[in-house]
Amino acid sequence: MEKKKVLGISFGRKMSNCDVMVKEALMECEREGCDVAFIRADDLEINNCTGCIACVIGMMSGRGRGYCVKHDDFDILDEAIMQSDAVILACPTYETSVTGRFKTICDRIGPSHDITFRKARYDEGKAAGVPEEQLPDARAFKKRSAALISVGGAMTEEWIALTLPMMYEFTFPMAIDVVDTVEYYGAMACENVAGNPEMMKRMTRVGKNIVESINANDEDERIKYRGDEEGTCPICHTRLIQFSHDKKTASCLVCGNLGTFDIVDGKFTMHYTQEELDRSRLRWGGKLEHSTEIKTQAQPAGTIKNLKELKQPYADFNPGVWPVDKNACGNI
Ligand SMILES: Cc1cc2nc3c(=O)[nH]c(=O)nc-3n(C[C@H](O)[C@H](O)[C@H](O)COP(=O)(O)O)c2cc1C
Repeated sequence: MEKKKVLGISFGRKMSNCDVMVKEALMECEREGCDVAFIRADDLEINNCTGCIACVIGMMSGRGRGYCVKHDDFDILDEAIMQSDAVILACPTYETSVTGRFKTICDRIGPSHDITFRKARYDEGKAAGVPEEQLPDARAFKKRSAALISVGGAMTEEWIALTLPMMYEFTFPMAIDVVDTVEYYGAMACENVAGNPEMMKRMTRVGKNIVESINANDEDERIKYRGDEEGTCPICHTRLIQFSHDKKTASCLVCGNLGTFDIVDGKFTMHYTQEELDRSRLRWGGKLEHSTEIKTQAQPAGTIKNLKELKQPYADFNPGVWPVDKNACGNI
């Protein structure tokens, strides 16, 4: 039987905390019989998404397979993900959130990798007899598992608060199921995590949890959440909630599902209906709702007849920047 493939991606510095943490988890996967691979995101040259949306338009119109028109090292990452059965990601916290490179990669992943877009085009194309090589890559629909690890130097978890929630931007378009999460803060108090036996043991457990997930006999067992954090959301297990404007309801910012809340014996609890849980963007229903609104609500070019005229004052308004001496701030 072919070995299960686990891809580790570190967004940190060379041989610093993220690298070591991902590698420890991968080593455990290898010991358990998996075929492992490792990528350091900063070793790849990946350009920002320009927002041209040619990837999605091409796929929806049947002219393309959902790829970016620009070819750079994102193709390496994309192909490695397609080959994988699981991914283990570790990202440093920069300014309380993910790194710029992490966000760049997320922008390049979605929406062209959104499985509700890809599957719809694949099914339509198959029904119309379009050859497989002209359709979205069927490996995109493979069930995959993930572990997310956020790392921050600061001594309080408030300084890494947005990193883990933001890391779901990598997994949700492709419907990769997150089965374990770890938030490691206070990293600056230890020269390197390799000297933190407790955290290294947790990384071994990340590896074990991933192996257990990808070798599960049924889907419920595969997607079972194995992290230590219960969270306020039963789907993503994060604690990032936003209150509605009237402050009577709240929603999980990772999943986008709306719920009510109460405080009993001083403990805050969110309550979600099944319908709202199924609207999570981590689930098919939430993604389908969004891809459907894009397909049905987004207006094509040419719908505002006098648009050129409306935009003209802005095209003519070009104040530019003030005269700037690049060396004035002392950066010489
Ligand atoms: C630009 C920048 C911003 C940072 N901002 C934060 C922050 O907001 N919170 C935090 O906990 N650590 C912050 N850090 C520290 C890093 O998260 C920390 O050094 C981490 O260990 C980096 O991961 P690595 O060791 O795998 O490279 C920042 C570091 C840099 C370079």
